Amino acid sequence: MTAMSDPIESLTKTARQLLEIEQLLGSQFTPAAVNSLPEVQLPRRAVSGLANMPPSDKAAALDDMNNNEVKVCTRCRLAKTRTQTVFGEGDPNAALVFVGEGPGQNEDETGRPFCGRAGDLLTSMIGAMGLTRDDVFICNVVKCRPPQNRNPMSDEVEACWPYLMRQLQIISPKAIVTMGNPATQKLLQTKTGITRLRGNWQALPEFADSLGGIPVMPTFHPAYLLRYYTPQVRREVWSDLQQVMTVLGLKLPKDK
Ligand code: URA
Ligand code: SF4
Repeated sequence: MTAMSDPIESLTKTARQLLEIEQLLGSQFTPAAVNSLPEVQLPRRAVSGLANMPPSDKAAALDDMNNNEVKVCTRCRLAKTRTQTVFGEGDPNAALVFVGEGPGQNEDETGRPFCGRAGDLLTSMIGAMGLTRDDVFICNVVKCRPPQNRNPMSDEVEACWPYLMRQLQIISPKAIVTMGNPATQKLLQTKTGITRLRGNWQALPEFADSLGGIPVMPTFHPAYLLRYYTPQVRREVWSDLQQVMTVLGLKLPKDK
């Protein structure tokens, strides 16, 4: 996104951001700005291989993986019950990646991540940060819907893991937000629960070339937020997102 030249467009965006913050939080905050994410600068740290890919090649690399590998994948039992795979979507060169658990019914039907009720809330959370879904990348630890929306089993997460790892290598984000236990525990290689982990920056382990050290912010899953829509949980999620904004150099909304 570039600086907004059209004042009407700018006002519309600010109004939308305000509504999204209100939905997330109540009316405690007003937005300061519609944000634009910094360009990912490469090389960011000692990077090699996939992470060195020029931004212009990233979309094609992700599309290739999706079309030639994920869409036809039968590496785990979820292949048998899915309607279709849900690869993830967004900016192939995003500075920020959100990782959820796995597709639910809406996602399985549409092939798009986070497009049901929890997805609408995630869209609002991103809006409250002054961003849009197109500015970030959104995906899940498993690409196929677990039946009855049960948690993905550890062998399913393991089978699907190479895809997420490669997505992260290609995108090479500046920060990752893990939402809920399955994503957080896999990416941080821990059994500690989200309630204890959330709100504290962690570093991604060196799973593969160039992944080690990417800052990870664990937070509650939006589906949890929908179930426990209390002022405290909302404040906690918003505080986690504001920490992410700070690390990315985004302007924070002002307290009233
Ligand atoms: N919940 C998730 O974890 N992922 C989705 O894509 C949708 C709901
Ligand atoms: Fe393949 Fe992942 Fe789907 Fe399992 S969940 S079939 S590993 S794409």
